[in-house]
Amino acid sequence: MIEKKIAVIAGDGIGPEVIAEGMKLLKASEPYCGIHFEFTEFPWGCEYYLREGRMMPENGIEILSGYDAILLGAVGYPGVPDHISLWDLLLTIRKRFDQYVNLRPIRLLKGAPCPLKDVRREDIDMLFIRENSEGEYAGAGDRLYAGTEREVVMQNGVFSRYGTERIIRYAYETARKYGKTLTSISKGNALNYSMVFWDEIFAEVGKDYPDVQTKSYLVDAAAMLMVTHPERFQVVVCSNLFGDILTDLGAAITGGMGLAAGANLDPERRFPSMFEPIHGSAPDIAGQNISNPLATCWSISQMLDHFDCEKEGALILQAIENTLVDAKYLTPELGGSASTQEVGAEVIRQYQALHA
Ligand code: IPM
Ligand code: MN
Repeated sequence: MIEKKIAVIAGDGIGPEVIAEGMKLLKASEPYCGIHFEFTEFPWGCEYYLREGRMMPENGIEILSGYDAILLGAVGYPGVPDHISLWDLLLTIRKRFDQYVNLRPIRLLKGAPCPLKDVRREDIDMLFIRENSEGEYAGAGDRLYAGTEREVVMQNGVFSRYGTERIIRYAYETARKYGKTLTSISKGNALNYSMVFWDEIFAEVGKDYPDVQTKSYLVDAAAMLMVTHPERFQVVVCSNLFGDILTDLGAAITGGMGLAAGANLDPERRFPSMFEPIHGSAPDIAGQNISNPLATCWSISQMLDHFDCEKEGALILQAIENTLVDAKYLTPELGGSASTQEVGAEVIRQYQALHA
């Protein structure tokens, strides 16, 4: 049996509730994947910060580097400024492990609610590939003369040829692999350096992929079209910030944040990749056991894909879909009255039933 070591950072708020269900699901997949998953839980996050003055230990990255993957719940809690909790944990991990691909499926599963009218379910099936290592999130800038009349703040977007080419190439490869169209989202009309460059690289790399059909949209138009014509999007590639914003829009049209998952990948596998539900820590409902574990379950499906168990990854997604269709065990935000644990158990039951 193969052994995979998983670092679990359940984090804050509803993080521990949903992650507990994710761990059970991963365990349930063991016999089918032929992998033994060994968990190590790290109590890092905002509570840790209030005690220790930091989000994770000084050698946190070194510790994590010994694992095959990271499962992350949610980070952030009132009492710790968001830019600290996120920069010192989530964003540090993404960057230090060069997880330059943020893979976010935007797919309307059967049974999931959709606020759009006149849209066919199968028309919402996108795969967002968000640049995850630089761009608007490079953390480059300065704040000068703070608090004075002369105060100046700079937040620089950083687009390197290396970083832009590799994400766009990954997107072309993905589109080719699945036989899908590839849409690039940018904003060259206004961002006359970064996004003109992005568009150039998109065209340049595309020469190696004459078989991949492409489209390009400006980000504002893309936001509108995702609502009015979602069928136009299949594989999508965009910068860090645009991807952040549009994938929340994507979540809104595919059942909400309770169903939205994301993988932070180092495709070269030099470092551990990280899997997470993309919702926040939701302090308002934490501890009530009504948080939806389905996003975490979906991120487990992504983890199995990453471990080359695509068949099991797909079956987990099917189990999530069956759970939605049956609608017997759903959390309140999806109109049900089940607890986090009941939904988690139902996904495992559905998953096992698919093997029966
Ligand atoms: C996400 C989140 C993060 C991001 C925040 C929490 C820094 O919104 O994963 O989409 O913007 O990347
Ligand atoms: Mn986001």
